Amino acid sequence: MSYREPSPAERAWLARAVELARLGRGAVEPNPRVGAVLLAGDQWVADGAHRAFGGPHAEIEALAASKGAPLRPDTLVVSLEPCSATAGKKTPPCTAAILAAGIRRVVVGALDPDPRHRGEGLAQLAQAGVEVVLEPEGGALFARENAPFLRQLKSDRPHVVLKWAMTLDGRVATVSGDSRWITGEAARADVHERRAYADAVLTGVGTLLADDCRLDARLSRALPRAAPWRVVLDADLRTPPTAAFVALADERAAIYAASDAAPERAAALRARGVDVRCAPRAATRGVALEPVLRDLHQRGIRRLWVEAGPRLAAAFFDALLVDRVCAYVAPRLLGSASAPGPLEGALRLRMDEALALEELGVERCGDDLRIEGALRRAAPGERP
Ligand SMILES: NC(=O)c1ccc[n+]([C@@H]2O[C@H](COP(=O)([O-])OP(=O)(O)OC[C@H]3O[C@@H](n4cnc5c(N)ncnc54)[C@H](OP(=O)(O)O)[C@@H]3O)[C@@H](O)[C@H]2O)c1
Repeated sequence: MSYREPSPAERAWLARAVELARLGRGAVEPNPRVGAVLLAGDQWVADGAHRAFGGPHAEIEALAASKGAPLRPDTLVVSLEPCSATAGKKTPPCTAAILAAGIRRVVVGALDPDPRHRGEGLAQLAQAGVEVVLEPEGGALFARENAPFLRQLKSDRPHVVLKWAMTLDGRVATVSGDSRWITGEAARADVHERRAYADAVLTGVGTLLADDCRLDARLSRALPRAAPWRVVLDADLRTPPTAAFVALADERAAIYAASDAAPERAAALRARGVDVRCAPRAATRGVALEPVLRDLHQRGIRRLWVEAGPRLAAAFFDALLVDRVCAYVAPRLLGSASAPGPLEGALRLRMDEALALEELGVERCGDDLRIEGALRRAAPGERP
């Protein structure tokens, strides 16, 4: 079915719906973020957003907010196609609520990318006589704003963000392994904020041994929901039971080890509340990443924040398991060629073999810079 394109005024309301959708950031995933605006003609009546996983959808929130308003809404502007399915849900679909509220025009930012529902909600509304307006270019914006949701639709692993902090000359630690601290307080607080929005924070045992890190989000101003899982990849269970990571005892600490790791080490860690899980050994070093990511996905981890040292970070890259990079760059220089860089990975001899980032974001965090972007996926037959 084809629908009319939005007018400039309708596009402006769609931009507001996308802004509202961002209110759900960190709290709705792996659901999509959705925002909605109700209008009477071209007059604003009420706003709504999907704010929490399992909570009301944006359309329902906006309809509830419009009760008692002086104007009766006739138009819904919503960043994503309204849901139309009843299967497995406790509440009726949004399409039913929209029709029951007497809405006559629905302006939609993007089709539901789930092939099981795609277009179904709009078809139901159109069949009931509602004027449906669809932004034809809205899919790309929706994809940028909802990467974990799309990753979940496409694969059985979490969306992976790889973070590192480095000096301006590209070093993540000194030659002696000291990396505390490369960046200033504002950047470190920002990292904790990002950790808090993840379902799990993961590192390698090399970092745990060097930094005695906890991987928690204690500097975050507000945890939007349960604290993230803390995960270490440690094939031979070299993690000391006295490590700060273990001592935190928040019942959300997991270590992936090889199945032939010393059972007494596993027992000592389990006795302190760590969830020791088994994974196959990787061909080169440590545990195999794909089975670990599949297992995390099965346990509900959709957004994975990786803060690894150069070896594990490179393994994620070489296995093409990174969706996004977030690098903090400090205005400091170590001036030492033998100090490690962020990725100790595969040799690339030509610039056209370099992995490219797109949708770049650059922000100041105190004296440091945060540079982030999504890994550009190579088209078939193209170099990475
Ligand atoms: N500036 C930053 O952003 C930053 C961040 C993190 C770390 N660092 C620094 O990096 C240094 C530590 O570097 P690192 O490279 O040793 O740390 P790492 O990459 O965090 O840990 C490496 C270890 O992880 C284990 N591992 C498990 N599965 C793996 C896999 N599939 N591939 C690779 N490794 C796997 C391996 O030990 P097993 O074989 O024993 O399992 C490996 O030796 C420290 O100086 C730390 O301060 C800096």
